[in-house]
Amino acid sequence: MTLITGSTSRNADTEAPLIAALVERWSPRAYDPDAVVEPETIRTILEAARWAPSANNVQPWRFIVARRGSEAFTTVHDALLGFNQTWADSAAVLVVNIAETVDESGGARPWARYDLGQAVAHLTVQAQHEGLHTHQMGGFDAAGLHAAFALDPSLEVVSITAVGVLGDVDALPDPLRQREVAPRRRKPLDELVLAG
Ligand SMILES: Cc1cc2nc3c(=O)[nH]c(=O)nc-3n(C[C@H](O)[C@H](O)[C@H](O)COP(=O)(O)O)c2cc1C
Repeated sequence: MTLITGSTSRNADTEAPLIAALVERWSPRAYDPDAVVEPETIRTILEAARWAPSANNVQPWRFIVARRGSEAFTTVHDALLGFNQTWADSAAVLVVNIAETVDESGGARPWARYDLGQAVAHLTVQAQHEGLHTHQMGGFDAAGLHAAFALDPSLEVVSITAVGVLGDVDALPDPLRQREVAPRRRKPLDELVLAG
């Protein structure tokens, strides 16, 4: 078991040994508002997404990559709901995760959202490996973003990933700061395996 002790460690208390990026990955809300993620690193994490498996190798994932300071970042940030707006403005990049849920002949792609989620998982693990942190969000106005970027009807905006460099927890407003240091919990492995 890989464990790093200390009050700032958010490492997973795993029931079996895992690769470092999985142990160390967690979803912070405190990001360094001045940190810049190099274009090469953004390319690397997108490359990790690109090599995710997908049903029939359809690769139905699409992304909008909005760097802090850009017009696109403002558009994506404006679409965030509730407390997501208060912390995500410090992320270096907001990645909009989009699934192509309809094929060329108008048929449904039932695995598109599943495939997108897997690509995003790849991205988060690679980002962690690159020394970055990520935080996925479902709390945003998906229809508003779809319209703002004039997306094709075959595309569905599913989630947003904040990507950035870990910042100062104490800079967060109190309710968010408390969440940031609350214990990380998971159901026991035994509860997840229904048979076998
Ligand atoms: C699809 C999805 C939607 C999420 N939506 C939000 C959100 O809107 N706001 C937020 O602060 N966290 C959101 N989260 C983060 C989860 O709360 C977080 O991943 C979970 O509590 C586990 O914590 P960990 O990632 O640090 O292990 C979301 C995560 C996922 C995967």
